[in-house]
Amino acid sequence: MLSARFSFLLSFAAVSVFGASNLTETCQEPVVLSSFPDLTSCLTQPGLYSCENTTAIQNTCCSPTPGGLVLQTQFWSTYTGLETKGQLLPKGSWTIHGLWPDNCDGSFEQYCDPNRQFDPAPSPAKFPNGTVISAYKGPGVDTIVEKFGRGDLLDYMNDYWINQNAPNQDLWAHEFSKHATCTSTFDIACYGAKYQKNQDLINYFDAAIRAFHQYPTYDLLAAAGIVPSNKTTYKLEQFQNAIKAQTGAVPYFGCTQNGTILSEVWYFNHVYGTEQYGTYKTLDSTSKSSCNATGPIQYPERSAKSEHEVRGL
Ligand SMILES: *[C@@H]1O[C@H](CO)[C@@H](O)[C@H](O)[C@H]1NC(C)=O
Ligand SMILES: *[C@@H]1O[C@H](CO)[C@@H](O)[C@H](O)[C@H]1NC(C)=O
Ligand SMILES: *[C@@H]1O[C@H](CO)[C@@H](O)[C@H](O)[C@H]1NC(C)=O
Ligand SMILES: *[C@@H]1O[C@H](CO)[C@@H](O)[C@H](O)[C@H]1NC(C)=O
Ligand SMILES: *[C@@H]1O[C@H](CO)[C@@H](O)[C@H](O)[C@H]1NC(C)=O
Ligand SMILES: *[C@@H]1O[C@H](CO)[C@@H](O)[C@H](O)[C@H]1NC(C)=O
Repeated sequence: MLSARFSFLLSFAAVSVFGASNLTETCQEPVVLSSFPDLTSCLTQPGLYSCENTTAIQNTCCSPTPGGLVLQTQFWSTYTGLETKGQLLPKGSWTIHGLWPDNCDGSFEQYCDPNRQFDPAPSPAKFPNGTVISAYKGPGVDTIVEKFGRGDLLDYMNDYWINQNAPNQDLWAHEFSKHATCTSTFDIACYGAKYQKNQDLINYFDAAIRAFHQYPTYDLLAAAGIVPSNKTTYKLEQFQNAIKAQTGAVPYFGCTQNGTILSEVWYFNHVYGTEQYGTYKTLDSTSKSSCNATGPIQYPERSAKSEHEVRGL
């Protein structure tokens, strides 16, 4: 965002240096690939939290519908599998998994638009009607982010949105095609008549990062004295209470190895406004934790070779 904005401002600054008095008259419209949806018509829609409407939502560009139970999901991983290629985990932070549109009852749809299929390894492999979802073989979605002049976004994603055993951009593409295509506020129609191909993809990546910022899991746990350790274990309730103390709600915690190793967290929300820019209200998880409710749980330390320092959130 910053770099695109910055060059936009620079072009105006350059004009005024040369003494032009009427910018609207003398300035060519700068070519900036926008990622914004057109939300002008949302002003006339009733304000509400998603899943809390009492009458039908008319304009689904203004509130995620039916996927109004929005999950901001994160991983705690100890390795990437591609350390030798420089794919490392951010020190002192969990990583982004995605931003998911669950239905209000907790069920969900996936891969809703075959025309926006960028996932090189679709999972599940088939649409509900049994048709195979063809694997995407084109250039990585990172090249699209670059085309939009969003090196800043790309850098951030490579710091905090990390895949395991495959390149980061495969995870980003997977999340977009599986989830954003089922989120009404990212529908192509929401970008208006001037829609530029893939602006919804950039918009989704920005939105996922913005939502992630609301939930700094590493810090939330550390503030309760819970830090990764290979020498001690924790109880599920300790993780839950630490997060509840700051967000007011209990997220879903996921564990591997029969519920003994912490690996995931999902924050449940209703959103006032769009998924992109609205206000997230944190809610209790509607899914039962896969972590052992009574036994010891490991929150493992990473080894030094799997992580690196990155700029702050
Ligand atoms: C600038 O140009 C616009 C469009 O031609 C015109 O409507 C406006 O009056 C001009 N403003 C000034 C201050 O000259
Ligand atoms: C909320 O809006 C959706 C979409 O228009 C609609 O399907 C649903 O029935 C509405 N909920 C209520 C309680 O009216
Ligand atoms: C199955 O669903 C997909 C995705 O909605 C659609 O593109 C495809 O045409 C459908 N196939 C059949 C045979 O109905
Ligand atoms: C999980 O527990 C079952 C039953 O105790 C055991 O057979 C299995 O090996 C365990 N799996 C893992 C991954 O620890
Ligand atoms: C949870 O951990 C306890 C203590 O290690 C063990 O006895 C129990 O079987 C575990 N429960 C499940 C569901 O794995
Ligand atoms: C801690 O344990 C994890 C998982 O077994 C391992 O990958 C990691 O290297 C260990 N970290 C340290 C600092 O020993």
